[in-house]
Amino acid sequence: MRTTRDNLQVVLVQPEIHGNTGNAGRTCLAVGAQLHLVHPLGFSLDDSRVRRAGLDYWARVAPRVWPDWESFEASVPTLGEPWVFTAEAERTVWEVEFGPRPVLIFGQESVGLAGAIRRRYGRRQVGFPIHDPGVRSLNLANCVALACYEVLRQRLPRRA
Ligand SMILES: C[S@@+](CC[C@H](N)C(=O)[O-])C[C@H]1O[C@@H](n2cnc3c(N)ncnc32)[C@H](O)[C@@H]1O
Repeated sequence: MRTTRDNLQVVLVQPEIHGNTGNAGRTCLAVGAQLHLVHPLGFSLDDSRVRRAGLDYWARVAPRVWPDWESFEASVPTLGEPWVFTAEAERTVWEVEFGPRPVLIFGQESVGLAGAIRRRYGRRQVGFPIHDPGVRSLNLANCVALACYEVLRQRLPRRA
């Protein structure tokens, strides 16, 4: 299946660090996904550092920007099937099938997604395993890249 902005959504909820958003946008462009940014953001989208992290591609990223979590969440059924990324998930990304229209949702760098929101998504919470107990979480932009490429891997035609 070819990835398009209709069938792969990447959502950063209240991102705080321009470099992560720029990097995530660059990954979205590379794989063909649509980036969504949910306000409040910890930086201005006009900040040159966002564009620098996304390199000269940033102008083409064209993120969809939402005023708040509530308005974004109300639109999820029209976008696809939600998956919430958290280091506290019981299931790893390798244990789920993301389906034809995944909406990959990531929390903010300092505190992640609120527990009350995460719990609403039950078994739709997924994570990347962390083996060292001293490491609490992975970098946000790295998670976006890992998740997007796992979706692409699942879309590869099955070998006979
Ligand atoms: C830097 S982390 C947030 C760390 C925050 N202190 C917390 O406890 O959630 C930012 C976002 O990256 C994603 N993330 C980080 N590590 C992850 C992991 N191991 N598995 C899945 N998502 C992860 C989550 O979406 C998280 O909300």
